[in-house]
Amino acid sequence: MGKVHIFDHPLIQHKLSFIRDRRTGTKEFRELMNEVAMLMAYEITRDLPLEEIVVETPVAPARTRVLSGRKIGLIPILRAGLGMVDGMLKILPTAKVGHMGVYRDPETLQPVEYYVKLPSDIAERELIVLDPMLATGGSASHSIAVLKNRGARSIKLMVLIAAPEGIARLQADHPDVDLYVAAVDERLNEHGYIVPGLGDAGDRLFGTK
Ligand code: PRP
Ligand code: URA
Repeated sequence: MGKVHIFDHPLIQHKLSFIRDRRTGTKEFRELMNEVAMLMAYEITRDLPLEEIVVETPVAPARTRVLSGRKIGLIPILRAGLGMVDGMLKILPTAKVGHMGVYRDPETLQPVEYYVKLPSDIAERELIVLDPMLATGGSASHSIAVLKNRGARSIKLMVLIAAPEGIARLQADHPDVDLYVAAVDERLNEHGYIVPGLGDAGDRLFGTK
C-alpha cells in the first residue's frame, strides 16, 4: 500500500492556515500556494539519490556529491494544480512539465478528461503529480492511470489537503504511489467538498465564480 507522508513543517502549516481562510483574496492565495509548493518540493526531494564526484576548488580537490538517478517530471492536474508549478520550479528549475486536463463533473463527481500533453520521456522520469485537493480521489486516480498507460514507472502524488475518502481511493487503485500531503481533513460533504478544506481551489486560484 502507498505510504502517506504528512508534511508538518511549521512554515507549511502556517501558510496553509491563510490559504484556508475565506478572507484570503486571489493574489495572496496564489502567492501562498506557490510558497507552500516550494516548501513541499524541498521535503519531497529529501530521498533523491546522490553520487560522489570530485571537483577542483581553488584550494584542492574536493570529494562532493551531486544528484544522480532519474530526472523529475511535474504533472499538474488542471486547473488548480497549475498553482503549484512555479513554486516547484523554484526548487527544481530543470524539471519538465506535463499537463493533465481533468475536471470533476459537479453532478456525478466523476473525472472528465479534456487535455493531456506530456514529455515524451515520462518512462525515464520521477513524476510528481500536483493538485491542491484530493477529495473523492477520482481526478488523481484517473490521471495516474493515464500516466501509467503512457509508460510512467515512478509516480508520487503531492497535494495540499486530502480527505480520508481520497486517500483510500488512491491506495486501492494505485498501491505503488506514495502520497505527500500538508493536511488530512475530516471528510467530504454531500457535494464532494473537503470539510473544512479551503473551498474550490481552482476558483480561488483564478478568481472565477
Ligand atoms: C478540483 C481539484 C481536483 C479535484 C479533486 O478540480 O483541483 O482536481 O477537484 O476532486 P476529486 O478528488 O473528487 O476528483 P476541479 O474539478 O474543481 O477542476 P478545476 O481545477 O479546473 O477547477
Ligand atoms: N475540489 C476542490 O477544489 N475543493 C474540494 O474541496 C473538493 C474538490
